[in-house]
Amino acid sequence: MNLPNHDLRQDIASILINETELQTRIWQLAAAIDQDYAQTNDLLLVCALKGAYVFLADLSRALQRPHHLDFMALSSYGGGTTSSGAVQILMDLTQDIKDRHILVVEDIIDSGRTLTYILRLLQARQPASVRICTLLSKPSQREVEVKTDYVGFEIPDEFVVGYGLDFDQSYRQLPFIAVLKPSIFLTEK
Ligand code: PRP
Repeated sequence: MNLPNHDLRQDIASILINETELQTRIWQLAAAIDQDYAQTNDLLLVCALKGAYVFLADLSRALQRPHHLDFMALSSYGGGTTSSGAVQILMDLTQDIKDRHILVVEDIIDSGRTLTYILRLLQARQPASVRICTLLSKPSQREVEVKTDYVGFEIPDEFVVGYGLDFDQSYRQLPFIAVLKPSIFLTEK
C-alpha cells in the first residue's frame, strides 16, 4: 500500500525535519507563548497565508491560553524558489487590532522582507504589542534584520517544502519539512 502523498514523496531528496520533531518543537513553542501571555486574555494570532496555515493549526491547538485568530495573505516568491523582494498584500485582516496583543505566525523567514512589511503595516494600527513566531528561519539569507521572538528551527540555505511550504504551489500537504530533488528544479517553469 502506498504512503499518503506517495507521488509527491517521490520528488523528495531528504527529510530535514520529521513529523515528531515538528510536533515536539511546536509544543515547546506553545509552552513558552502560554507563559509569556499568562497575563492577558486578548491574544490575537495573525497567520501569514498561505505558507503558515499548517503551523498555525498545530500551534493554536497546542496553546492552552485563550486566543483569537485572523489571517493576512502576502506574496513575495511568485512561482520561483527565491524571493522576488517585492511584497504584495493579497488579503488584509478582518478586524481592528488597536490595543490588542498580536502574535504574527509565519512559516519561514528568509530575506526578512515579508515580515518587515507585515510589522510596519501592523505597527501603524497601534496594537498593544506585536511579537513574531516563525517555524523556520534561514539566517544566512537575511537581507533585512527582523526581531524574532519565537523560532522553531534555524535551517541551512536549502529550498524546503512541506508542512505548508510550497514549490510552485505544490507539496504544501506533506507532513514534514523536506528538500526537493534537484531534478524538480531543473524542470522549473
Ligand atoms: C514565503 C513565506 C514567507 C516569506 C518569507 O511566502 O511564507 O511569508 O516567503 O520570505 P522573505 O523573508 O524572503 O520575505 P510566499 O511568498 O512564498 O507565499 P506563500 O506563503 O503563499 O507560500
